[in-house]
Amino acid sequence: MARQTVSARRDDWDFADLGMKETQASTHFFHHWTAKFIPQIPRRLIEMYARPGDVVLDPFMGCGTTLVEAARLGHDTWGTDINPLAVNIARAKTAGIRHKALTEFIDWLDEAAERPERHLAQSRHLFEGSDEWFREDVARAIKAILNRARHLGGNTRNFVEVGLSDLLKGMSNARMDRTMPTLPSSARYRDKKHYYRLVNNETREINAFARVRSQLRRMGRALREFRAEATGRAAPILHDARRLRSLRRSAQLAITSPPYWSAQNYQKLHSLSFRTLGLKEPGRGEIGRRARDYLPDMGAVVEQLTQVLDGHFALVIGESRDGVHESVRDQCLSRGMELVETFTRRLSNQAFFAKAVKREFVYVFGCRP
Ligand SMILES: C[S@@+](CC[C@H](N)C(=O)[O-])C[C@H]1O[C@@H](n2cnc3c(N)ncnc32)[C@H](O)[C@@H]1O
Repeated sequence: MARQTVSARRDDWDFADLGMKETQASTHFFHHWTAKFIPQIPRRLIEMYARPGDVVLDPFMGCGTTLVEAARLGHDTWGTDINPLAVNIARAKTAGIRHKALTEFIDWLDEAAERPERHLAQSRHLFEGSDEWFREDVARAIKAILNRARHLGGNTRNFVEVGLSDLLKGMSNARMDRTMPTLPSSARYRDKKHYYRLVNNETREINAFARVRSQLRRMGRALREFRAEATGRAAPILHDARRLRSLRRSAQLAITSPPYWSAQNYQKLHSLSFRTLGLKEPGRGEIGRRARDYLPDMGAVVEQLTQVLDGHFALVIGESRDGVHESVRDQCLSRGMELVETFTRRLSNQAFFAKAVKREFVYVFGCRP
């Protein structure tokens, strides 16, 4: 069983003393995902509210943080997300792969990293307009990696694609000082996030084969350890949380951090991954895109939860000046859930989109059908 994190005090929900080593442990580092919560939150909630044998659900699972922790703690777990990239990441973090095939793939990357010119694909075309986003040598290396990954099939192919996807923005011409992929006005620009250093997209060192090799090596080791430790089974499912019941699954504990009402545009944020991997964009089903639909949509999810859940529901939600967090809490209460605990978290390390959010609440409800 994994070591308890530094913030072991049950009344301290700030987890301010944690570093990347703890928050990115196990398979959590595989891919960035905006507004993912730190694994210590679902972990503690599972330890507090799940009994042996209980199934754990996250209806807005994002990149699968809850699923990873539930499986590590021995619980079967399932989660839904409307975003196919999120589901692929959660799958890469939890599903078994063919390690022998991965090792052979990494050996090939090793060879290609030494002599890239021999391994580049003929074509540099990744998607419509990709020439603007990737330098020719980089695009041809990415294409070669994708072509080769296609022969792996199933979870192993997905694993490689997720590893590549996490590196795409850093290998592209996009400005390094913007979270949203944005092209600079010229190939040479100042990176405002990193001491105004000069970046030259035409000449900077980008060995895509070497970068992907290192990423896959680390991921492969982490997945082996995860699979050796995790006795629970994880099922990440591409599905709309407003229709949870149609999956005919149940759970005894649900933990979730819902999408925000201030239009988190995951498609734009991950546009290079979507286009390079040819993923279908979630579009209108994404909750939070239109402020006026937010509360009715959340109401629909809460309603579905009352039908699949017999136990507890932990809602992790940021404080908002207009009281939306309280409205979501009240939706749970009006649907018969009973508030059993409220924990407050002070946020020290704030994500760019939520600079106004200073506190987060963890509302724990009892939920009986
Ligand atoms: C705040 S993030 C959750 C992050 C997650 N806790 C993690 O650690 O990765 C909210 C998620 O809700 C998803 N989402 C938005 N609308 C949805 C819907 N209708 N059904 C299911 N998931 C949805 C988004 O794609 C996003 O991944």
